[in-house]
Amino acid sequence: AIPLKELFKDYFPIGAAVTPQQANLGTPHGQALREHFSSITAENVMKPDALQRVKGQYTWGNADQLVKFAKDNGMLVRGHCLTWHAQSPDWMFYDENGELLSKEVALAQLEEHITAVVSRYKGDVYAWDVVNEAMFDWDPEGVIEYREDSPWYQMIGETYIDSAFVYAHRADPDAKLFYNDYNSIFSWKRHKIYNMVKRLKDNGIPIHGIGLQGHWNVNTSESDIRTTLDLFRTLDVEIQITELDVPVYLSGDEPGAVEYNSTFSFRQKAAYSMIFQVLLDYSDLITNVTFWGIGDDHTWLDRPDRKAFPFLFDEDLKPKPVYFEVQKLV
Ligand code: XIL
Repeated sequence: AIPLKELFKDYFPIGAAVTPQQANLGTPHGQALREHFSSITAENVMKPDALQRVKGQYTWGNADQLVKFAKDNGMLVRGHCLTWHAQSPDWMFYDENGELLSKEVALAQLEEHITAVVSRYKGDVYAWDVVNEAMFDWDPEGVIEYREDSPWYQMIGETYIDSAFVYAHRADPDAKLFYNDYNSIFSWKRHKIYNMVKRLKDNGIPIHGIGLQGHWNVNTSESDIRTTLDLFRTLDVEIQITELDVPVYLSGDEPGAVEYNSTFSFRQKAAYSMIFQVLLDYSDLITNVTFWGIGDDHTWLDRPDRKAFPFLFDEDLKPKPVYFEVQKLV
């Protein structure tokens, strides 16, 4: 197989989300990363609760190791993530009585966190997911804009997003700053992201791109992806696919399997061919395509009774038939 990063070198870097254990040349994962990928993202260890679980005590070891692995092997690093309602320590949101913090305290703490993290990796992390998943996920009319159950929104209102971007830009003016979200291609959500990013741009906030997480599936609609890319293009931002995975099931209810089979392979070949053809068609707009893992042995989508098999590499990190299907496109 031609290395993935070679296949797409004229189009975009190809990334993977990794654990610190995987980012090690002494493991098969480390070898696969070096051979096939030109960018890495920390699957968990750069999130707020990993870097500053206790207020004022930063735990850099795992993140430092990932960044060193990337530098040693000539890879880019996407930083994920600075501001999120999940995987964040309670002290960012609540006082000792369990009450939400004041706007002033919350923003001061956010500024401190973002400044410390972005400064430490200045010049090493080339793109940051500054705000993750701030928009309301699903309402039939598509009218509720912001995720109102987020403590960030409750403490500060929507302008926490603006502030986070300003803090990150001050700490590293050369880093590319992204808003990252999922379900972004659906008609009931994409306009919310469009409106929010338009508001930031109109207000002169330093935002450079939109991350589409890309937790798609074998039914994902080509026209939904194309329509979304056409819409976001008008914002004059870069697009990165930040967390691509395509599990093999038609729905959440489909009975699970623990072995890959020819039906799964058939579905997945069709889906990944469509997806990569679209990404190639928009390669002037798309500046990184990152999978949320390396091979089918490790994915956040697995359940005990139902393996997701979402990647191009199998559980032994060997290219699957779907890999060769993608290879045909270029
Ligand atoms: C997931 C990780 O893959 C898991 O290991 C962790 O337990 C939960 O978070 N959207 C995101 C990612 O932005 O940070 C999430 O990662 C997957 C969904």
